[in-house]
Amino acid sequence: MIGFGAHVRESLVPAIGRFADVHIARIHDPYLGPSVSAPYGSQIAATVDGVIDPKRVDALVIAATPEVHYDSAAASLKAGIPTFIEKPASVDADAMRALCSLSENTGTYLAVGHNYSFSPALTRVQRFIQSSDFGEILNLNVAFHGSKPRGPRWGMTDEFRAFLLSHATHAFDIALFSTSDVPLEVESASFRSSRNGHAGTVLLSGGSSLSVCVSLTNLAPRFDLGLTAISNAGRRVRMSGLSRVEYDGSDSSDRIGSSWSASVSATDIAGYVEQFSDFFHHVQNQRWTPTVMVRALRGLEIIDQIIHLRS
Ligand SMILES: NC(=O)c1ccc[n+]([C@@H]2O[C@H](COP(=O)([O-])OP(=O)(O)OC[C@H]3O[C@@H](n4cnc5c(N)ncnc54)[C@H](O)[C@@H]3O)[C@@H](O)[C@H]2O)c1
Repeated sequence: MIGFGAHVRESLVPAIGRFADVHIARIHDPYLGPSVSAPYGSQIAATVDGVIDPKRVDALVIAATPEVHYDSAAASLKAGIPTFIEKPASVDADAMRALCSLSENTGTYLAVGHNYSFSPALTRVQRFIQSSDFGEILNLNVAFHGSKPRGPRWGMTDEFRAFLLSHATHAFDIALFSTSDVPLEVESASFRSSRNGHAGTVLLSGGSSLSVCVSLTNLAPRFDLGLTAISNAGRRVRMSGLSRVEYDGSDSSDRIGSSWSASVSATDIAGYVEQFSDFFHHVQNQRWTPTVMVRALRGLEIIDQIIHLRS
């Protein structure tokens, strides 16, 4: 692992701990305080070369800052090590495009930590949207309302980009995943920014009939995620948080009018375990499709478009 901060310790290590045949071998984080202890059986590596070493590790998990993600992933892919990077994968789409090329040219798997697309709730939403009775999706609303982080991040001078990289990457990944990776173009973006944070709406279109509205902020009192999709067949699927999905329509077929409620732990609700199940599966089978990394690239392209429109 490269980076051993709060997210790794609170969410990623417990999720990886679910896999009996996966062992955290080495950790590199030059800013670790003395009070932080490495997981049982793992070693702290003083240098990054002590981790990016195909003789010592079968895969690498990187969760630090966007710049570290890019530098470490580039080195790891060149060394032929399957690599998982947390979001944001990089500071912009150009850097991500370079990582995608490296992944393709070296035949080395690259995954990005967009955990929500592995959550039980969103997986159900996508399954319903892709079913033949749903028809074509016309309208998608995604609300991604965070309460933190606020203020400058990762030493980036462009605080608005840092906000988008931190929050909007998740929201755009959810929108792209729910619309089965139809390329989305930014129609308009409107944000209000204050000393405390940002709140705004992004309108996107996909082809001639799909319209997507993403509402974003880091000023909410607590985290909330919602999604509603409506189809040309009069169907609606609604996700409230990550624990409830309601299906709605005008006939009485099986799922219509029904709902699903999660009965699993917070780690499972957020999709952290499933995202690693998918990553380790690709690592073990050495066969992969670029879906996750291409979706991450498209999300960063949307962020670049918003910043371009704003300037
Ligand atoms: N998917 C999610 O739900 C989710 C949630 C929270 C955070 N994250 C992402 O995880 C990443 C880490 O976030 P965090 O909240 O744990 O932040 P954090 O600040 O707690 O941790 C970052 C860690 O990276 C380390 N680091 C900095 N430079 C490094 C380098 N050159 N080499 C190795 N380690 C280095 C720091 O010392 C720190 O321990 C971010 O990219 C963030 O966006 C994802």
